[in-house]
Amino acid sequence: MKILVINGPNLNLLGIREPEVYGKRDYTALCAFIRESAGDLGMEVELFQSNHEGAIVDMIQSAIDGFDGILINPAAYTHTSVAILDALKAVSLPTVEVHLSDISVREEFRHFSYVSLYALKTICGKGFEGYWEGLAFLKQYINNA
Ligand code: DQA
Repeated sequence: MKILVINGPNLNLLGIREPEVYGKRDYTALCAFIRESAGDLGMEVELFQSNHEGAIVDMIQSAIDGFDGILINPAAYTHTSVAILDALKAVSLPTVEVHLSDISVREEFRHFSYVSLYALKTICGKGFEGYWEGLAFLKQYINNA
């Protein structure tokens, strides 16, 4: 079972970026955590991070071939991107949305997520653990499909 894990803009600056919100661990640590989680769960992952909406759309489109599901933290594009929502709907793979912080208790503009309109599940406010939970959910969902 192979999952594409996508992290959106500014997540490459984890550790430096608002550590009081996103924690002190950096993006390399997040990648290591995701790879370790996938290993524990017996899943394969490919990791992708981009600050560019079009690059994320291209990557989602490329997942049609060879991936069983998508775990995505669209970051700021969560709240703005119809293009990412449409790409997810187009490829029609089981998708889980994850956020490090709890977007429901932050600024009003973070409360709405376009990606939630398609995602099977949205996990918020659990930090790195949310990625583990997202992979575990996808594993169970795909195995039962
Ligand atoms: C985020 C929440 C978004 O609102 C924000 O723009 C991000 C990160 C999170 O992981 O908590 O960049 O997706």
